[in-house]
Amino acid sequence: METPFYQYDLALLNETLDTAHVQATKYGYMVHYAVKANANPTLLKVISDAGFGADCVSGNEIKVALKNGFKPQSIVFAGVGKTDREIEYAIEQSIHCIHCESVQEFQVIDHIAKKLNKMARIAIRINPNVNAKTHKSITTGLKENKFGMSVEEASLIFNTANQYKNINLIGLHFHIGSQIMNMEVFKNLALEVNRIQERLQSKALPYLNLGGGLGIDYNNPRINRIADFEGYFKTINLWLNPGKDQSIHFELGRSLVGQCGQLYTHVLYTKTSPTRSFVVVDAGMNALIRPALYGAYHHIENISKIGWPVNQTYEVVGPICETTDSFGEAVSLPTTERGDLLVIHSCGAYAESMASDYNLRGRPQCVFIPNYELENSKGYL
Ligand code: LLP
Repeated sequence: METPFYQYDLALLNETLDTAHVQATKYGYMVHYAVKANANPTLLKVISDAGFGADCVSGNEIKVALKNGFKPQSIVFAGVGKTDREIEYAIEQSIHCIHCESVQEFQVIDHIAKKLNKMARIAIRINPNVNAKTHKSITTGLKENKFGMSVEEASLIFNTANQYKNINLIGLHFHIGSQIMNMEVFKNLALEVNRIQERLQSKALPYLNLGGGLGIDYNNPRINRIADFEGYFKTINLWLNPGKDQSIHFELGRSLVGQCGQLYTHVLYTKTSPTRSFVVVDAGMNALIRPALYGAYHHIENISKIGWPVNQTYEVVGPICETTDSFGEAVSLPTTERGDLLVIHSCGAYAESMASDYNLRGRPQCVFIPNYELENSKGYL
């Protein structure tokens, strides 16, 4: 098989989905898969078959979700910059809920729904100003972030909602960030949601969505293959005080798919500069941008040298004409040679979905184990 390629372990995906499902249903929680983490059609089909809803952030994500088995009533739609056409499409498809992120968007949705002679189901996305204690680029719930609206603005909407004849205001939405490993953060979110619900008197509304953000163990992907769904839902259940008829929703991306994907790449060259040794591989930041964009760590192994002593330190770089095209500056590996096969772990989330054609390198192909490909898995849209 030509490298680079993504390999998805569907057995691990199914095991992860089962675990998430079992832990969520203990408390009657509903989980929507955050399609942005990976919109690969084969994965989407497995996830929709497992009974998850979808969380989308564009009209095209809604389209792809529908095409791959998600029911309209299981789809929610967020995003700070929805176009009129996307709002129209979401209303026409009768999805479960649009998460509204500003006062102006609320007015626009009402206007569009009126034109279509339909009711739009809306939840207000509130920015709760809770620190996710994660990387600053993937923090979304601080007041300086562009997402959602303040409680004051939400209150304004609540007080005037009955003037908007084509909107059915069904509840609240929150999402404070991604790759959150500290359960204390989810406790803080739950407590803040309680305060906000009291203030807005929204506990009688039927819908409450706490977003996603549960992290995975990038350091030990072979050992910690499944995220801590048990601790996550337990923490929320312990601290959240919802209305008695409120249904509680989540939007998990990374924790559902992150560990089931790996990126395989061959070593093209090795070379040394006065200060370091480089391993140049055939995968670039166009296939996995997380290290370049966030300084993210991905565990790398040389599977051509299994059992060899791990006694060298290399910078593993791609072929792209950018200095940041690097997968790690000090990667511990056995003595590595041209032709060796490396595996970059934890690439199920935000690798393929953030891939680009930069330098016209083309996007990696995908393989699935067990060997499995659905008929409709060619192309996204
Ligand atoms: N809901 C909303 C509104 C979101 O913005 C996100 C992610 C999620 C749910 C899913 O979050 P998760 O469960 O996957 O943490 N590209 C970055 C991550 C960006 C996350 C964007 N929003 C990365 O590679 O780390």
